[in-house]
Parts: sequence; structure tokens; C-alpha cells
Amino acid sequence: MSRYRIVNKSLLIFIIALVTYVLLFSTSNSFAFLVKDEFPAHNIEKGDCFAQECHSAMTTEKKAYQHKPFEEHKCMSCHLPEMASNNDSVEINQRMICAGCHETVENELSGSLYIHGPINAGDCTSCHNPHQSDVKYLLKESYNKLCDTCHKMDRLFSGAVKHKPVKDGNCGLCHDPHASNYKSRLKDVGANLCISCHEEMVTGMTYEYVHMPLLESGCSDCHDPHSGRDSLRLRSSIDTLCFNCHKEKKNAIEHYDVEHKPAKEGKCIICHSPHFSENKSLLRAQVDDLCYQCHKENREWQSRHFQHGPVVQGNCSACHNPHGSDNAYILRLSFPHKFYSEYEKGKYNLCFLCHKESMVTAEETETVTYFRNGKKNLHTLHVNQKKGRTCRACHDVHASDQEDHIREEFRFGAADIPIYYKKTENGGTCIPGCHIERSYDRINSVDNNRE
Ligand code: HEC
Ligand code: HEC
Ligand code: HEC
Ligand code: HEC
Ligand code: HEC
Ligand code: HEC
Ligand code: HEC
Ligand code: HEC
Ligand code: HEC
Ligand code: HEC
Ligand code: HEC
Ligand code: HEC
Ligand code: HEC
Repeated sequence: MSRYRIVNKSLLIFIIALVTYVLLFSTSNSFAFLVKDEFPAHNIEKGDCFAQECHSAMTTEKKAYQHKPFEEHKCMSCHLPEMASNNDSVEINQRMICAGCHETVENELSGSLYIHGPINAGDCTSCHNPHQSDVKYLLKESYNKLCDTCHKMDRLFSGAVKHKPVKDGNCGLCHDPHASNYKSRLKDVGANLCISCHEEMVTGMTYEYVHMPLLESGCSDCHDPHSGRDSLRLRSSIDTLCFNCHKEKKNAIEHYDVEHKPAKEGKCIICHSPHFSENKSLLRAQVDDLCYQCHKENREWQSRHFQHGPVVQGNCSACHNPHGSDNAYILRLSFPHKFYSEYEKGKYNLCFLCHKESMVTAEETETVTYFRNGKKNLHTLHVNQKKGRTCRACHDVHASDQEDHIREEFRFGAADIPIYYKKTENGGTCIPGCHIERSYDRINSVDNNRE
């Protein structure tokens, strides 16, 4: 019985010894305080932390930036007896210790929607040294290496070319290291973030036409803010980028019978600015200047005596759809390209977008056209027939040196046949290759068959 008790007693002693051992030596941090009562041994009086030369090394190695309470040996403002059971005797949630003195930081944190991971964990000292440091703001690492300690840049941003501030490690120029009200804790919202550095774009943002994504979400819809395959860091190759959002255009362009090469190839930015413009539809320049960039030979139209109304205005897209069309010459509406064409309603819709259709349907008129002999409508006579002449048989739709946009020559088979046109007071005279000289006069009808 008693023997039994002795065994039990030694077992108890052994267990106590074991527990003591574990408590004493298992914490690798020798600064940990074992029990609350031991803390006063560190003494509360200012300076005593160093008195016994326990922590004197901390002050002999003086670093460039000293934290005020540390410098003033107010160790107890952070190391607290009631936290004695924690490592370092500091509150696990350091934010609570720091908050007491750093009210502005605390206000920023408690008023923000997005708080950085380590701060949520109360770990201010993952970035700051609470005592002293050689880096400004008591940072543990140089500013441009700090973020890399947790976010391995090369793993995060695999693109071949990195944005300058990213490459330099200056993440903090865009991201607030603590907290902010913008997603990803950005320092500013949308385009503002970027144009704070890209000043050359500030005026553009005030133009009349600003591309919707810049206003709605900023720049990152198209540019990766960190890295990419080239310095532009576009989200997709430049010839597919626009189609990411403009699906309806993609669909239309794919289905047109007649393609316009630059649009088909996705070279949208030849004509459009991706950002902003003073021209409607974000055009980089007035429409005709865009066209003449590639259709260089046509620039000579500008030196002709007479240019068609919309050509004068530089409005090529009134007739041509720059993206493609189901009509020849990427025309917006139908227009027969032959010399002869049987008249049908709808065939000349392109012209009747701006001119009156009655000019080719009225047999007799004193109003709808000047091209009449007496009252006889010569437009109807030429156009509205089984073997009708098309408008282009007589007119050049772009420009001409003859009045009324009468073309100087037309191609008939393999030959270029000239047309001489002369206006008279009340009519005109024409010597085309296809018949002898003919005249018309609106007051005194001419009988061309007399001669
Ligand atoms: C602003 C708050 C603050 C003040 C003031 C402060 N400490 Fe600390 N101390 C900490 C924190 C937080 C840790 C935990 C270290 C970590 O997480 O990096 C720590 C850790 C320590 C450690 C253990 C780790 C190390 O860095 O060696 C010692 C020793 C220490 N402090 C001593 C002191 C002494 C001595 C003073 C006064 C001269 C002092 N501390 C003042 C916050 C403070
Ligand atoms: C007892 C008050 C007190 C406590 C607690 C305290 N600080 Fe400070 N801290 C100060 C004072 C005072 C300054 C100097 C302020 C100044 O120069 O504007 C300072 C400066 C700083 C700076 C440098 C600011 C700058 O502009 O260079 C940082 C970073 C900082 N503290 C971080 C912390 C962190 C992190 C904690 C918590 C672990 C903390 N502090 C706890 C009083 C305190
Ligand atoms: C992820 C790293 C990181 C963490 C975690 C962090 N900081 Fe900072 N802190 C910085 C950087 C970087 C700066 C330098 C200024 C800047 O870039 O805004 C800074 C600046 C400061 C400053 C001085 C400038 C200012 O804003 O007043 C104080 C004070 C400060 N931090 C306190 C804290 C406190 C308190 C915590 C914990 C609640 C904390 N920091 C957590 C990175 C961090
Ligand atoms: C101590 C480690 C640590 C350091 C140092 C650190 N981070 Fe973080 N960061 C984290 C953790 C953990 C998360 C994940 C938290 C989450 O998603 O809630 C995170 C998340 C982020 C995010 C993700 C998105 C978000 O909404 O929060 C960004 C951006 C970020 N950090 C930027 C930075 C920058 C910039 C720096 C340097 C000033 C930095 N980090 C330094 C640990 C760190
Ligand atoms: C030029 C500004 C800028 C710089 C510099 C910058 N970032 Fe970002 N970062 C952003 C933007 C903008 C986003 C939001 C991305 C989005 O909307 O797709 C972001 C998002 C993030 C995210 C969230 C995850 C993601 O990809 O959506 C992390 C993590 C991050 N950044 C880390 C960093 C780190 C680390 C650095 C420094 C090496 C850094 N950033 C530098 C602008 C920047
Ligand atoms: C901290 C300043 C800074 C911020 C903020 C910034 N950038 Fe930059 N960015 C630069 C610098 C510096 C360059 C390199 C300029 C050069 O090499 O001419 C650059 C280059 C670029 C380029 C390449 C220009 C070229 O001609 O190749 C693009 C695109 C760009 N940034 C977009 C952005 C976007 C989008 C944002 C916002 C997410 C942004 N930047 C925010 C500083 C900044
Ligand atoms: C709709 C997509 C899109 C958006 C949104 C966008 N960009 Fe761009 N960005 C481009 C394209 C495409 C280019 C290439 C233009 C070129 O090569 O002519 C470009 C070129 C650039 C360049 C190089 C110089 C230049 O002007 O050609 C910079 C810098 C730039 N962008 C910054 C920004 C900034 C800052 C924002 C936000 C304010 C932004 N981008 C928004 C598509 C976009
Ligand atoms: C992130 C989505 C997005 C991308 C990428 C995008 N756009 Fe847009 N774009 C829009 C939105 C939204 C509108 C406004 C709604 C609309 O008119 O369809 C718009 C409008 C336009 C307009 C019409 C402006 C007006 O005044 O009618 C043009 C032109 C345009 N985009 C060209 C482009 C070009 C060129 C690209 C490629 C460089 C491109 N977009 C890439 C979203 C985008
Ligand atoms: C050859 C020049 C040119 C090219 C290339 C071009 N566009 Fe256009 N785009 C124009 C012109 C001119 C207008 C204005 C049309 C008008 O006057 O109504 C326009 C108008 C637009 C509009 C707004 C009006 C509408 O038609 O919906 C959008 C969106 C648009 N283009 C997108 C694109 C996209 C996406 C691409 C690339 C696939 C592209 N454009 C290629 C010249 C061009
Ligand atoms: C980036 C160069 C480029 C620009 C800008 C451009 N085009 Fe074109 N265009 C072409 C190419 C290439 C063809 C195909 C030529 C061919 O097949 O012989 C073409 C064909 C045409 C055709 C059909 C010609 C034919 O003989 O079938 C017309 C019409 C035309 N473009 C009108 C325009 C108009 C109008 C504009 C301005 C809104 C314009 N183009 C802007 C390159 C361009
Ligand atoms: C009033 C309608 C109209 C306007 C405006 C117009 N075009 Fe045309 N364009 C046509 C027609 C119709 C054709 C077909 C050729 C023909 O039938 O003579 C054509 C043909 C073309 C061709 C291919 C054949 C050739 O003559 O080279 C090009 C290129 C062209 N136009 C470019 C332009 C440019 C550039 C502008 C603006 C300066 C423009 N067009 C304005 C109606 C127009
Ligand atoms: C976008 C509107 C528009 C379209 C489409 C249009 N025109 Fe015109 N047209 C005008 C304007 C405006 C004038 C008056 C200014 C001038 O003399 O050019 C005019 C004048 C003319 C004249 C000369 C009148 C004169 O007495 O000098 C002829 C001929 C003509 N157009 C033929 C055509 C033909 C053929 C078509 C179809 C291919 C056509 N137009 C399509 C706007 C248009
Ligand atoms: C046989 C040659 C010929 C044909 C075919 C022809 N026109 Fe004309 N057109 C003329 C002549 C000549 C005038 C000048 C009348 C005048 O002012 O004395 C003219 C004038 C015009 C005018 C100026 C207003 C008016 O009616 O006087 C327009 C617009 C016009 N034509 C459009 C067209 C259209 C559209 C077509 C095709 C549907 C067409 N023309 C076909 C010879 C022709």
C-alpha cells in the first residue's frame, strides 16, 4: 500500500520536473518571460532594461533611425507585464500597442475597406522594426525590397517586360502598404492612379471624347499594371484587344462580304485612339486624312476644281464603311458599279441618302433636276431604263475638274473615253465618246435630232 504511494510520489516529482524543463527550455526565445511575476525583475524604471547589461547590445549598435519610445528607453510602453506569457511580452495584435500613439495610422486603418494581410494579423513588425532601423520609416528592408520579402516579384509578374516602378520595386507608389478604400489597396481610383505619373495624358482626359473604359475602370482593362510581353503590357495582342469588348464589331467584320483590310486585320488603332480624342468616334484625325494615309494616290482629289460635298467635308465614311460592307468598294448602301444597269428601286440608295430619288423617276419636271431639256428629265431618260446608264457613267463621285462632277473620262472595256462637258446659261453641251455632241436647255428645249 505505502510502497505504492512512494512510487506515485516519485512519478509526480518526475512529471513536475518534466513540465518545468519543457517550460524552461522549449521556447527558443530567451527573452520570453516565463511567468507574469517574473516581469518586474525587468524593472519598471526608465533605463533599467540596460542596467544589468542584459540588453545593452541593443543600444550600443545605434542605427540611423530610432523609434522615439525606444530611444527614450520607454520599453514598457510596448512590453507589458500582462502580456508576459507571449513571446517578447508584447500584445499579439501589435496594432493595439501602436494605435495608442499612432492615432492617424489607426484612423486610416479603421476607416478603410481593404486592409493588408499582415496588418489584419496585427503584425506591424513584419515590415517595421519596433526599435530602430537604418531605413527610413523604421522599415526592416530597404523600401524597394520590402514587398518582395513576402510577394516574390518574379513569381507574381512573369511578363518579360516590367513596368518601370514595378521593376524598381516601388510597389508603394501604387499600393498603400497599410490600407485603402480601393480594391488591391490602390492609392487612387481608376485612371487617376496612372496619370499621377503619366502627366502627358492629363489633358487628353479632358477631351470631348474619352474612351469609356478609361472613365469607368481606368487603365488596367487594357494594360497590365505590372508586366507584359512588351513595354505596353497589353492584356492581349494589339490586333485582338479591341475585340475583347467590341464583340458586335468583331461579329460584323467577320461577316461582311467585302472586307476593308486594316479593320479585318484588327488594326483599329491606325484610325482610332484607344484613349481619347477631340474627334468623334475617337478618331485620330479627320476621316479623309486617315484614308489618305494609305490611299495616297487619292489625295490628288483635293487639287481638283470641283469636289463632291461630303468629300469637301472630309467625310469619306458618309459613303464608305471603314470596317467593311456587303457592297462593293465597302460602300454603305447599294450603288451599281457597271456602266449599264437596269433601273430598279433601291439600286442607287447610296446617292439617295442625300439626293432626291424623284430625280430619276419623274418623266417631266421643272424642279427636281437641272438636267432636263425643257421639262423632259434627262436623268430619268438615262438612268431609268432597261439599259440604264449608272450615275458613274457621267459623274465622278469624288472630284472632277469639270462642273457638276461630270467625270473627265470613263473606262469602257479596255479604253478610257473622254467626256467634254460645257455648261451653258440654261443647260449644257456634252461630247462623250458614246454619241455625238448633244445639248439641253431648260427654257428652249433643244432638238438634238435636227442636225
Ligand atoms: C514601440 C514598441 C516597443 C518598444 C518601445 C520597445 N520594444 Fe522591444 N519589441 C517590440 C516588439 C513588437 C517586439 C517583437 C519583435 C518582432 O516582432 O520583431 C520586441 C522585441 C524585443 C526583444 C526581443 C527581440 C529583439 O529584437 O531582440 C527585446 C530584447 C526587446 N524588444 C527589448 C526592448 C527594450 C530593451 C526596449 C526599450 C529600450 C524595447 N524593447 C522597446 C516592441 C517594442
Ligand atoms: C509610446 C508611443 C509609441 C508607441 C507605442 C509606438 N510608437 Fe511609433 N512613434 C512614436 C513617436 C513619438 C514617433 C516619432 C513621431 C514623429 O517623429 O513624428 C514614432 C515614429 C514611428 C515611425 C516612424 C515614422 C516616420 O515618419 O518616420 C514608425 C514607422 C512607427 N513609429 C511605427 C510604430 C509601430 C509599428 C508601433 C507598434 C509596434 C509603434 N510605432 C508604437 C511613438 C510610439
Ligand atoms: C507591409 C508592410 C507594412 C506593414 C505590415 C505596416 N507598415 Fe507601416 N509603413 C510601411 C511603409 C512601406 C511605410 C512608408 C510610408 C509609405 O510608403 O506610405 C510605412 C509607414 C508607416 C508610418 C509612418 C508614416 C505614416 O503613415 O504615418 C507609421 C507610423 C506606420 N507605418 C505604422 C504602422 C503600424 C502601426 C502598422 C501596424 C498596424 C504598420 N505600419 C504596418 C509598411 C508597412
Ligand atoms: C509580411 C508579409 C508581407 C509583406 C512584407 C507584404 N505583404 Fe502584401 N500581402 C501579404 C499577405 C499575407 C497578403 C494576403 C492577404 C489577403 O489577401 O487578405 C497580401 C496581399 C497583398 C495584396 C493583395 C490584394 C489586397 O487586396 O490586399 C497586395 C496588392 C499586396 N499585398 C501588396 C503589397 C505591397 C505593395 C507590399 C510592400 C509595401 C507588401 N504587399 C508587403 C503579406 C505581405
Ligand atoms: C503602377 C502602379 C502599380 C505598381 C507600381 C504596382 N502595382 Fe500591384 N496592382 C496595380 C493595380 C492597378 C492592381 C489591380 C489589378 C487589376 O485591377 O487587375 C494591382 C494589383 C496587385 C495585386 C493583386 C493581385 C492581382 O494581380 O490582381 C498584387 C498582389 C500586387 N498588385 C502586388 C504588387 C507588388 C508586389 C508590386 C511591386 C513589385 C506592385 N503590385 C506594384 C498597380 C500597381
Ligand atoms: C510611379 C509613377 C508611375 C505610375 C503611377 C504609373 N506609371 Fe506607367 N510608367 C512609368 C514610367 C517611369 C514608365 C517608363 C517611361 C519610359 O520609359 O518612357 C512608364 C511606362 C508606361 C507604359 C509604357 C509606355 C511606352 O511608351 O512604352 C505604359 C503603357 C504605362 N506606363 C502605363 C501605366 C498604367 C496603365 C498605369 C496605371 C496602372 C501607370 N502606367 C502608372 C511610371 C508610372
Ligand atoms: C481600350 C484599351 C486601353 C485603355 C483603357 C488604355 N490604354 Fe493605353 N494604350 C492602349 C493601346 C492599344 C496602346 C498602343 C497605342 C499605339 O501603339 O499607338 C496604348 C498606349 C499607351 C501608352 C504608350 C504611349 C501612347 O500614348 O501610345 C501609354 C503611356 C498608355 N497607353 C497609358 C495608358 C493610361 C495611363 C491609361 C489610363 C488612363 C490607358 N493607357 C488606358 C490601349 C489602352
Ligand atoms: C474594356 C472594354 C473595351 C475595350 C478593350 C475596348 N473598348 Fe472601345 N468601348 C468600350 C465601351 C464600354 C464603349 C462605350 C459603349 C459603346 O459605345 O459601345 C466603347 C466605345 C468605343 C468607341 C466609340 C466611341 C463613340 O464615340 O462612339 C470606339 C471607336 C471604340 N470604343 C474603339 C475601341 C478600340 C479601337 C479599341 C481597341 C484599342 C477598343 N475600343 C477597346 C469598351 C472597350
Ligand atoms: C480605316 C479606318 C478605321 C479602322 C481601321 C477602324 N475604324 Fe472604327 N471607325 C472609323 C470611322 C471613320 C468611324 C466613324 C464612322 C462614322 O462616321 O459613323 C468609326 C467608328 C467606329 C465605332 C463607333 C461607331 C460604330 O460604327 O459603331 C466603333 C465602335 C469602331 N469604329 C470600332 C472599331 C474597331 C473595333 C476597329 C478594329 C477592328 C475599327 N473600328 C477599325 C474608322 C476606322
Ligand atoms: C492602314 C491603311 C488603310 C487605311 C487607313 C485606309 N485604307 Fe482603304 N484599303 C486599304 C487596303 C490595304 C485596301 C485593299 C487594297 C486592295 O485590295 O487593293 C483598301 C481598300 C479600300 C477600298 C476598296 C478599293 C478597291 O479597289 O476595292 C476602299 C473604297 C477604301 N479602302 C476606302 C478607304 C476609306 C474611305 C478609308 C478611310 C476611312 C480608308 N480606306 C482607309 C488600306 C487602308
Ligand atoms: C458620295 C459617296 C462617296 C464619298 C463621300 C466617298 N466615296 Fe469613295 N467611292 C464611292 C463610290 C461610289 C466608289 C466606287 C467607285 C466608282 O464607282 O467610281 C468609291 C470608290 C473609292 C475607292 C476605290 C476606287 C478609287 O477610285 O480609288 C477609294 C480608295 C475611295 N473611294 C476612297 C474614298 C475616300 C478616301 C473618300 C474621302 C476623301 C471617299 N472615297 C469618299 C463613293 C464615295
Ligand atoms: C452624304 C450626302 C451625299 C451623298 C451620299 C451623295 N451626295 Fe451628291 N452631293 C451632296 C452635297 C452636299 C452636294 C452639294 C455640294 C456639291 O456640289 O458637291 C452634292 C452634289 C452632287 C452633285 C453635283 C451637283 C452640282 O450641280 O454641282 C452630283 C452630280 C452628285 N452630288 C452626285 C452624287 C452621286 C452620284 C451620289 C451617289 C454615289 C451622291 N451624290 C451621293 C451630298 C451627297
Ligand atoms: C448621262 C449623264 C448623267 C447620268 C447617267 C447621271 N447624271 Fe446626274 N447630272 C448630269 C448632268 C449633265 C448634270 C448637270 C445638270 C445641270 O446643272 O445642268 C447632272 C446633275 C446632277 C445633280 C445635281 C442636281 C440636279 O439634279 O441637277 C445630281 C445630284 C446628280 N446629277 C445626281 C445623279 C445621280 C444620283 C445619278 C445616278 C442615279 C446621276 N446623276 C446620273 C448627268 C448625268
